Amino acid sequence: MRHLLSIDDLDRAGIERVLDRAASFAEVAGREIKKVPALRGRTVVNLFYEASTRTSSSFELAAKRLSADLVSIRAASSAVAKGESLKDTIATLTAYDPAAIVIRSPHAGAAQLVAGWTDAAVVNAGDGKHEHPTQALLDVFTLRQKLGSLEGANIWIIGDVMHSRVARSDILAFTRMGARVTLSGPPTLIPRGIEALGCSVEPTLERLPEADVVYVLRMQHERMEEAYVPSLREYAMRYQIGTSRLLPHQLLMHPGPVNRGVELSGAAIDSPQALINQQVEAGVVVRMAVLYELLAGAGATAARGVPIGTLETRAVAAA
Ligand code: NCD
Repeated sequence: MRHLLSIDDLDRAGIERVLDRAASFAEVAGREIKKVPALRGRTVVNLFYEASTRTSSSFELAAKRLSADLVSIRAASSAVAKGESLKDTIATLTAYDPAAIVIRSPHAGAAQLVAGWTDAAVVNAGDGKHEHPTQALLDVFTLRQKLGSLEGANIWIIGDVMHSRVARSDILAFTRMGARVTLSGPPTLIPRGIEALGCSVEPTLERLPEADVVYVLRMQHERMEEAYVPSLREYAMRYQIGTSRLLPHQLLMHPGPVNRGVELSGAAIDSPQALINQQVEAGVVVRMAVLYELLAGAGATAARGVPIGTLETRAVAAA
């Protein structure tokens, strides 16, 4: 794998390899000194053209815990309204000879474009409504920790699927790992034809009790140019997940940030079945594993085509 632009860059074995690596980094996260020398001397650039708390901070921590040098850039989305200015930014950053560029952009396909303009490995940290592959990987990691395997699990994804890159990446990753995925939400927020991704659609929550995992999405107002639901109150009445809609064995997930009282009730967020904080925790080790896989894993090559020696690998194993 040269870049991680979509979940489609990974087959099931590839996902398992990254998540096994993440599990080994989870052990490092438990130590007082949470660092390994794997990417010492390599540079990682984080380029965020959109708001982010979890994704940007966990990519930063991931790069630092792998001992990489890190440059974090945040720009207002207006600065990249044109593809050309993004291209110029990448040309400028190339002067630092980065090993990896992590990019979040409001434009679908931005990460793919960047991959064509640089020798660095590119990680898509969210491109518009398109994909958010590292979120899907951390979601699978969190579920593997809870369930052992996703094989045969019944996962419901509820809410604003239309504007959600998380939903798209999750559908691909969950089904690839053997789960059954059902989408539910107002018909205006479920894209027509989405079943082609291998999931089914239920217009109401009537059959929600069949779910093992209830994955709730944020109402993404910033991507809505018109009203998709009559009112948030109406939406909450029909689709909000509160503790009364959850069975005790069901696991509750959300990528964050949560609109408390809209898609999730406060009590549900704070309930023991919510895995929201575990998802955030998984974000660091999974992003470490992705950077490691791209820059130092088997088959990875250094920026100028020099194969990575086994030294770094051994250092990680021994650290
Ligand atoms: C998601 C995103 O930005 O796509 N958040 C995240 O990365 N944790 C989901 C969202 O914003 O609702």
